[in-house]
Amino acid sequence: MLVGSLPLDPQGRTWARLDGPAGSEVWLIGRPPGTGAGWHDHGGSHGAFATAAGALTEQSLAARLPTQGWKTLELTEGVDRERKLTPGQGRCFGEHHVHQVLNESQSTHAISVHAYYPPLPLMRRYSRTGGALRLEQVERPEEWQ
Ligand SMILES: [Fe+2]
Repeated sequence: MLVGSLPLDPQGRTWARLDGPAGSEVWLIGRPPGTGAGWHDHGGSHGAFATAAGALTEQSLAARLPTQGWKTLELTEGVDRERKLTPGQGRCFGEHHVHQVLNESQSTHAISVHAYYPPLPLMRRYSRTGGALRLEQVERPEEWQ
């Protein structure tokens, strides 16, 4: 599937899963203006993503969080990072990466391309209040395919 053929919905995210090289999985995600998908990790997979259209903001934590055995965690000061990714710009990340990706534009849809290896076994979703990160939900692949 070409990036340009991903259906876009002003009301919500759209996505398509592709088989990536070497057993990886690839997702195209359409992100309406003014939306974010919330804080999450990738269940221990390594990943990379890039902006294909529009512009994205990634907020992430420069801290290695334990992946299990906690429900709320108080983040230390200074761990927040933010980067803007314009078309063609991306980043890769390791197995403990926690982030959220935002389309802060008020008018322009954004599309991102993501690759994960191994394919996502699960995603943990977090809420955040100030420095407190709280595990809210564990999603399994059958919920997003
Ligand atoms: Fe992610």
